[in-house]
Amino acid sequence: MELKIINYGGIEYQKMTELRTKILRKPLGLTFTEEYLQSDRDDILMACVEGEEMIGCCILTIIDTSTIQLKQIAVLDAFQKQGIGTRLVELAEMIAKEKSINTITLHARKVVTDFYLKLGYIIEGEEFVEVNIPHLQMTKVLD
Ligand SMILES: CC(C)(COP(=O)(O)OP(=O)(O)OC[C@H]1O[C@@H](n2cnc3c(N)ncnc32)[C@H](O)[C@@H]1OP(=O)(O)O)[C@@H](O)C(=O)NCCC(=O)NCCS
Repeated sequence: MELKIINYGGIEYQKMTELRTKILRKPLGLTFTEEYLQSDRDDILMACVEGEEMIGCCILTIIDTSTIQLKQIAVLDAFQKQGIGTRLVELAEMIAKEKSINTITLHARKVVTDFYLKLGYIIEGEEFVEVNIPHLQMTKVLD
């Protein structure tokens, strides 16, 4: 298994879009619009691969000089609960630190808040709806 940064466009990006669609959109009866995917162009795209297969991914958007937003984390069903999500978040935090960015923020699906709480993220503010399901904003200030 290997964690890496991938480029926008190309075969690996296509695999990432398929993984995100399968794990994050199809279960909600949704798809990605071309317009939405366009914004990936400016983001940091992280992937976890096993051979030719993409089994996990995550996206980072640099908001400003102090904050990075972690988005679209997804691990293939058969590989969940094996530490891959944790490794993706840890890599995101390392990338933030390398850029001297000390805060990570994210919109957590309410059902997944425990995953982020275990990684030291705290809930901020009230619940809100995104992609038709309850979410909470969570943040972590890095050491
Ligand atoms: C959420 C997700 C990325 C976590 O990845 P993962 O590889 O399964 O997570 P890990 O194996 O690193 O889990 C770390 C800890 O969080 C817990 N955890 C993982 N997924 C969880 C979930 N959905 N709800 C509650 N706890 C969860 C694990 O049990 C583990 O706890 P432990 O250390 O006490 O054993 C993955 O389950 C996933 O892709 N889910 C579907 C898509 C999704 O909801 N993405 C998040 C959008 S905000």
